[in-house]
Amino acid sequence: MTPYELPTPCYVVDEGRLRRNLELLQTVQRDTGCKILLAQKAFSMYAEYPLIRRYLAGTTASSLFEARLGATEMGGEAHIFSPAYRDGEFDEIAALCGHIVFNSFAQLEKYRSRCPSSSIGIRINPQCSTQGNHTIYDPCAPGSRLGVTAGQFRFNELDGVEGLHFHTLCEQDANDLAVTLKAVEEKFGPALPRMKWLNLGGGHHITRPGYDLPLLKKCIRHVRDAYGVQVYLEPGEAVALNAGYLITEVLDVVENGGITTLILDTSAACHMPDVLEMPYRPPLRNSGLPGEKAHTYRLSSCTCLAGDVIGDYSFDRPVQIGDRLCFEDMAIYSMVKNNTFNGIPLPAIAAMDENGDCRIIKTFGYEDFKSRLS
Ligand SMILES: Cc1ncc(COP(=O)(O)O)c(C=O)c1O
Repeated sequence: MTPYELPTPCYVVDEGRLRRNLELLQTVQRDTGCKILLAQKAFSMYAEYPLIRRYLAGTTASSLFEARLGATEMGGEAHIFSPAYRDGEFDEIAALCGHIVFNSFAQLEKYRSRCPSSSIGIRINPQCSTQGNHTIYDPCAPGSRLGVTAGQFRFNELDGVEGLHFHTLCEQDANDLAVTLKAVEEKFGPALPRMKWLNLGGGHHITRPGYDLPLLKKCIRHVRDAYGVQVYLEPGEAVALNAGYLITEVLDVVENGGITTLILDTSAACHMPDVLEMPYRPPLRNSGLPGEKAHTYRLSSCTCLAGDVIGDYSFDRPVQIGDRLCFEDMAIYSMVKNNTFNGIPLPAIAAMDENGDCRIIKTFGYEDFKSRLS
């Protein structure tokens, strides 16, 4: 099946690109001895877990359900971090996850006796903001609930604690990791030699062209050698970066006050919420910036939300009703975050193999919409 024969809207994961990302991540593991986990919050297309498992050490989860998915569909190491665990879920989490990271000493005290076979870690907050413009994604922002600050860290109460975890980056390069590591060493240095592992979190844009791989490897080797820790990275984006598309069809063209809007069968609010949350303008194949090409349109959806606008794009030729458009980099933070607001159908999920052949993995219908309501 070609991409043109797929139903719309449809997420299509490009297995060739996914494999190339995984190969790059594998070189980081091989060259440094670190272990890389898939952060399932970014990409949970478990049909691809057998492929991912050939390259990565396992998964990390943010909840019981993600932990179950990782353990049952991928295998390998299963890690988890949550700001707080629910009492009724904890024993299953402890049975599934070999590594459990706590967000406070109160959570550690509450649950440490219920982790008979898991390695326990604490999330630290190095209070080192390196993100210029995404406060919403900055776990080091003032007042953050994520991680124990050095001022509150109980250096004398680490019995049984084997690891430290920090996550402070978002789509960043290795120079920001280096700055963060320095802050971690300055603030939490006395605890580091007592640890078996150090998890550097996600947000490392390792598979982005131009990413500073040598510096990443230097950082990993440095902490590995200085403190004798097993280093973990848990990227989400880097695993499936630029490895997926969202194909949509133009349903109508409307004009108002000089702005011509394409009504699509996809939606920013429903199918790519990060476009509104972050916000950003997703890449669209064969298009330009507004005014760059002859025909400029605003791309929007069928929802009632006036601001459900994906962005303004230009094209060489006028766009017609029935045309298909292809948004790029749509594997990550897309299908894991989508919803059926307004009863808009969920996109189908397809995979494209290395020859460009597509197969539909799953389609969704009225029952999927209805089953989440009562
Ligand atoms: C604790 C933790 N680990 C890993 C990740 C994955 O980050 P990314 O997808 O940016 O690599 C996140 C993202 O929010 C996170 O909060």
